[in-house]
Amino acid sequence: MPVITSSTVPFIKLNTGASIPVIGLGCFAGNGANQERRDRVKVWAGTALKSGYRHLDTAWIYGTEHSVGTAIRESGIPRKEVFVTTKLPWHHPGYVFESIDESLREAGLDYFDLYLMHFPQATEYPGQGRGRPADAEDPHSIRALEHPTLNETWADMERVLESGKVKAIGVSNFSIKTLEELLKTAKVVPAVNQVELHPYLAQPKLLAYCKSKGIVVTAYTPTGYATVRSDPTITTLANNLGVTPTQLVLAWHIARGCIVTPKSEDEGRQKENLELPHLDESTIRAIDALDRNERLCNYPNELGMVYGWTMEQFGW
Ligand SMILES: NC(=O)c1ccc[n+]([C@@H]2O[C@H](COP(=O)([O-])OP(=O)(O)OC[C@H]3O[C@@H](n4cnc5c(N)ncnc54)[C@H](OP(=O)(O)O)[C@@H]3O)[C@@H](O)[C@H]2O)c1
Repeated sequence: MPVITSSTVPFIKLNTGASIPVIGLGCFAGNGANQERRDRVKVWAGTALKSGYRHLDTAWIYGTEHSVGTAIRESGIPRKEVFVTTKLPWHHPGYVFESIDESLREAGLDYFDLYLMHFPQATEYPGQGRGRPADAEDPHSIRALEHPTLNETWADMERVLESGKVKAIGVSNFSIKTLEELLKTAKVVPAVNQVELHPYLAQPKLLAYCKSKGIVVTAYTPTGYATVRSDPTITTLANNLGVTPTQLVLAWHIARGCIVTPKSEDEGRQKENLELPHLDESTIRAIDALDRNERLCNYPNELGMVYGWTMEQFGW
């Protein structure tokens, strides 16, 4: 018997007092997505809303804010019943007030529930300005900037919060190192840190640090893709419980107090990801033991960097 079903998805309280459903739908249309593929997000975000999802995770850089906003309007579900997250792209620091207006206009929404700084670093895409970078990015064309710093960008995010255009602000891809840097000057403690998290990248120290600061952690790439789904420990534990590997892994995140944003375009898999079992301590510990600090989504390119920053700069 699943302990979580589409009608009983639990909520977590953010440090703002707002509640966020622990399962959200990831709305990234994939690398190399063309406009048609991005537009199709409206269809599968629509099936997710019909299946019970009340939390959608998008970003300026995904180009899917319009699809997400349209899916909500077409669903007939009142806006206040859906938690919507979007993100400030890493090449928009110094442009935060314009960027949030672009996101709101794109989505056709009056506010976002959560606005995340997508990456801690400010970058420039020479020749492309603030526009949408090409999906297949040449690593040499991304230049990290010294200014604005993450502290300066956070101060702008705090002003966006004051404006009421977003109900909460948070960060993404932050480590203990970059969070400590941010907290030196922050007036508002981030509500959320959204990071890559799955059994091969369990990040227990980051989780404990965030908990100590009242920052909720959202797991992206929560399923760990086919790499984790086919791990023999995962498949054995899933078989023993009579659930799928993805259900097992998502349940592990929830048991650790995290939010998850699995992405699926398929209605059946969307429903599957909302029906999660209870895990006992020994199962949780067996999954914890798979940690090998391996990034499956945002891993360093041929220059040893992710969007212009080294692993050392990230504190990863
Ligand atoms: N903040 C950041 O920097 C950042 C980075 C990456 C991602 N994210 C967010 O996190 C979301 C999810 O991340 P992600 O797409 O990297 O990872 P993911 O959700 O763990 O994996 C998505 C992949 O798993 C498949 N899948 C989903 N449920 C499944 C199931 N039950 N059985 C089998 N396959 C299943 C999907 O295929 P189908 O669609 O065919 O089902 C898709 O190929 C994104 O959409 C985005 O919102 C944020």
